[in-house]
Amino acid sequence: MPANDDEQAPDAQDPRALLNPALGAVASAIDALFDRLLALPGDPRDTLYKAMRHAAMDGGKRLRPLLVQASAALFHVDQEAALRVGAAVEAVHVYSLVHDDLPCMDDDDMRRGKPTVHKAYDEASAVLAGDGLQALAFEILSDEATDGDPFVRAELVLALARAAGISGMVGGQAMDLAAESSAQAFDLPTITRLQQLKTGALIGFCLEAGAILGRVPPEGRGPLRGYARDIGLAFQIADDILDVAGDAAAAGKAVGKDDAAGKATFVSLMGLERAREQAALLVEQAVGHLNAYGREADLLRAIAYYIVERDR
Ligand code: IPE
Ligand code: IPE
Ligand code: MG
Ligand code: MG
Ligand code: MG
Repeated sequence: MPANDDEQAPDAQDPRALLNPALGAVASAIDALFDRLLALPGDPRDTLYKAMRHAAMDGGKRLRPLLVQASAALFHVDQEAALRVGAAVEAVHVYSLVHDDLPCMDDDDMRRGKPTVHKAYDEASAVLAGDGLQALAFEILSDEATDGDPFVRAELVLALARAAGISGMVGGQAMDLAAESSAQAFDLPTITRLQQLKTGALIGFCLEAGAILGRVPPEGRGPLRGYARDIGLAFQIADDILDVAGDAAAAGKAVGKDDAAGKATFVSLMGLERAREQAALLVEQAVGHLNAYGREADLLRAIAYYIVERDR
């Protein structure tokens, strides 16, 4: 064997190297699935379908479907099942973006480098496209094609409903609006709670879903839940940092909105540097939760680093 002063074994490569191919593969697979699920019916609903396709296809990082896949891979789950669950959570996420961009909420014109749905179509179409995407998510989960076991399907539906609704994303969005109108800036614990609901809950679902599909009982899900909590928070801190220090062209959406709206965020409360440090710390902590796993968790490790290094 040739002398090698490189301490790493050949297979101990940087987990980051796994990321780009995985993101590319999941993006194509999700697009193909939405293409099938949202084939134009050729009737007066065509505009609605087109608005849903505009929102759901050809864009976004597809981070949530990738998280489902990476979690499912720990437990040797069927890849098609993981893809379907990934499409379900992505459908809820995309619906949340379509509604978040509406004039009555953040009033944004660009999303994923394209005009927002209400710009490309109209507000009514955007409301209905979001509604349709949310229902589609639960249709996908409760379909036998996702898992043959009705108990597994019911658990997935319950978990996504909780993550999407008043105890999750929608609750967080309501707190986010309250943060804008509140006379007193929210403090750090309140902002942390807000972000856990707004962003963290759906990310938490992704990790939980892999375990549900893998028949892992709740008491075996502790490390994944710890990982999800930490990357969820790091993810939203990174989003807030992008809003202050990011580039609109790279991000594919407007920046500078939070400050203009006078919204308290991690960055406004901690300053840019401390927010960056906090996000990096959370990522290390997230990766620490995976210590019980071997190489099969490398994709989850790579995702954790990517979450704070991304520029979009
Ligand atoms: C943006 O989410 C909205 C937040 C929850 C902060 P992403 O940054 O995952 O957006 P896409 O899916 O890549 O467009
Ligand atoms: C929205 O948060 C998160 C959702 C639940 C849609 P933001 O309003 O910060 O998301 P961006 O910055 O518009 O993507
Ligand atoms: Mg918003
Ligand atoms: Mg917004
Ligand atoms: Mg934002």
